[in-house]
Amino acid sequence: MNIEYHKSLKQYNTFGIDVKAEKFITIKSEEDLNEALSSCKNDPLFILSGGSNMLLTQDIKATVFHIAITGITVSKKTDNTVLVSANAGENWHDFVQFCINEEYGGLENLSLIPGYVGSAPIQNIGAYGVELKDSFVSCEAIHKNTREKRIFTKEDCEFGYRNSIFKNKLKGTYIITKVTFELTTANHLLNTSYGAIELALQDKNCIKPTIKDISEAVIAIRKSKLPDPKEIGNSGSFFKNPVISSTSFINLKNTYPTIPSYKIDDENIKVPAGWLIEQCGFKGKRFGDAGVHDKQALVLVNHNNATGQEIFELSLKIKQTVKEKFDISLETEVNIIK
Ligand code: EPU
Repeated sequence: MNIEYHKSLKQYNTFGIDVKAEKFITIKSEEDLNEALSSCKNDPLFILSGGSNMLLTQDIKATVFHIAITGITVSKKTDNTVLVSANAGENWHDFVQFCINEEYGGLENLSLIPGYVGSAPIQNIGAYGVELKDSFVSCEAIHKNTREKRIFTKEDCEFGYRNSIFKNKLKGTYIITKVTFELTTANHLLNTSYGAIELALQDKNCIKPTIKDISEAVIAIRKSKLPDPKEIGNSGSFFKNPVISSTSFINLKNTYPTIPSYKIDDENIKVPAGWLIEQCGFKGKRFGDAGVHDKQALVLVNHNNATGQEIFELSLKIKQTVKEKFDISLETEVNIIK
């Protein structure tokens, strides 16, 4: 394990916020993790994975564990499926591309999501009609205090929309070290139902798409809407899409007939936060270096040197405006680190 002091975290969070960690430990193996946990028994800990779903608003006084354990293993399950395990420090998109190159289906719709494998279950990452939980089998995690290893099955994880037990009951308790997926080797269950994917495939005259075709379509859609964190700091969707009652939705639709929506069940409707934020006039707006992306209003961006606090304040302004205009309370998807 490698220990550094007063380390800038700018390269370690996709918002590109320049705060410092008092003590920063790079963890490259499970042995490293055990050693670090025992030698930092009395330190407050801060677990840093890909840094793609957090907004750092000040220097981190806790000891940062940067989980960089890599490695992928494959074992056959049935004629049509394999179990693929990736260690927590694997880059998510590289892992998805590995699966596609090996012709393992199931994760193609989740192409180009920033971050590492280890944090993917925490918020049950999802995009274009697919969520991590659809192919998730289990994950291994180490308890921060007892150092005991535990295997969490899909049921144990209590997955929901951008949610899991690791964001609730067990928040801050376990460090995920490995995630296992069940993927298909033949007869892939393709999910092309999302409108933008259908259109992208039609454009390419792709009648019998492969998992690679779907991955390429998703990559093209994401690139056209979402800013690349290497070019402009961001953490993807800053807010969750709110779920409102059908009655409130009917009232809203009377005033705003073009409001998009997804039915959850007879009583609940999900409305896109990006649409609400755009209606409030924030799309493409810039307040100093903190801004709202010009192609997707759900994404807050760091144009260069914004502080985490400035982006946080912009998020509060957006929340307040959406509340005043639509009487809807937006919930933050990104973890705000104070
Ligand atoms: N919309 C607007 N204006 C905007 C943005 C969106 O009117 O500025 C409208 C779109 O026209 C469309 C609807 O809102 O009718 C939905 O937009 P989009 O398809 O871009 O998806 P989203 O609901 O805004 C969610 C996820 C994304 C994921 C996409 C595709 C959440 C919080 N976000 O966004 O996930 O990529 O669907 O599945 O659920 C992320 O979590 O970081 C993320 C990017």
